[in-house]
Amino acid sequence: MNTTVTRNAKEVFDLLHDDLAAIEREFGRDTVSSVRAITEIGEYLRAGGGKRLRPALLLLSCKLMNYTGHGAIKLGAVVEIIHTATLVHDDIIDEAQTRRGRPAANTQWGNAKCVLAGDWLYMQAFKIAVQERNFHILDALIDLTQAMVEGELLQIERLGKTITMDEHFELIYRKTACLFSVCMKMGGILANASEADQQRLAEYGRNLGMAFQIVDDVLDLTASEEVLGKPVASDLREGKATMAVLHALEHCTQTERETIESVLSNGGFNGITPADIVAILSRNGSIDAAYARAVEFSNKAREALCTFPDSEIKRVLLWVPEFVVERES
Ligand code: IPE
Ligand code: IPE
Ligand code: MG
Ligand code: MG
Repeated sequence: MNTTVTRNAKEVFDLLHDDLAAIEREFGRDTVSSVRAITEIGEYLRAGGGKRLRPALLLLSCKLMNYTGHGAIKLGAVVEIIHTATLVHDDIIDEAQTRRGRPAANTQWGNAKCVLAGDWLYMQAFKIAVQERNFHILDALIDLTQAMVEGELLQIERLGKTITMDEHFELIYRKTACLFSVCMKMGGILANASEADQQRLAEYGRNLGMAFQIVDDVLDLTASEEVLGKPVASDLREGKATMAVLHALEHCTQTERETIESVLSNGGFNGITPADIVAILSRNGSIDAAYARAVEFSNKAREALCTFPDSEIKRVLLWVPEFVVERES
């Protein structure tokens, strides 16, 4: 990652440092249960780290809209807890061994306990959200959770198959962009902003989330295991065709297509290496095509903010899409 991007990222996290620390404490308090396994799993996941992108977006949205109440901290914890619950369930579904560079929770506590811990975390997130006594918040969170669960289900049904680009975009909207969108909208809801402004914030989050996931899927193929905190090419191993792969399938030779399809449908590489797949993608300009699409989404995100008055926070939000596209992990 170039130095300007790294420096800006540090400045943004410095700007949000105190609020993110408060969210971390809130998360710690919120995930304590009288049943020890739940507290242990919650704490294991919290301590595993993560970029805390979603609470950071929610905080930036609140600041843009000049909301200064405690709801920002509470809802920052809520969105990170929802994210955590989806990851616990996702790792069970994907039979993942590693998450954030550590053994995935399912490998430590088993699937049964982790399913229940995930359910408990969802309910805990809603319990905290209810404290705001705001139906708009609950509406957004319920629609979000259902969209994410439906997305996971649709993804299972499409595993090992090639899908259309539109189906793929629908999936990444549900699994990632929808939560980014809700994080941004929350700032508008808390600040009692107009419906139009809430829509603009949501639109920013949606486009940013799409760009984030497209880049995430490319990194799954091109970054190293150390950087990813999980094995390279996990998506292909799990039978998931992501944007660059779908682009290659549309443009490649018959032999290349057979190579990709054999990995996708076998759930393993069988003599083909991830590097062979990356070579096919490079030959077909598919990695560049995915990045170009991510840049388009990131420009759309920026455009969604154009009517907000200029401010330090607006400048940060205009920079975030660039960070998301240029990140290496
Ligand atoms: C991982 O999200 C799940 C996806 C949407 C691909 P992040 O990359 O934001 O995960 P953490 O929270 O930083 O680990
Ligand atoms: C992440 O999905 C989980 C959700 C956002 C629901 P993936 O299975 O595609 O991502 P990783 O690679 O496990 O983080
Ligand atoms: Mg997964
Ligand atoms: Mg998954």
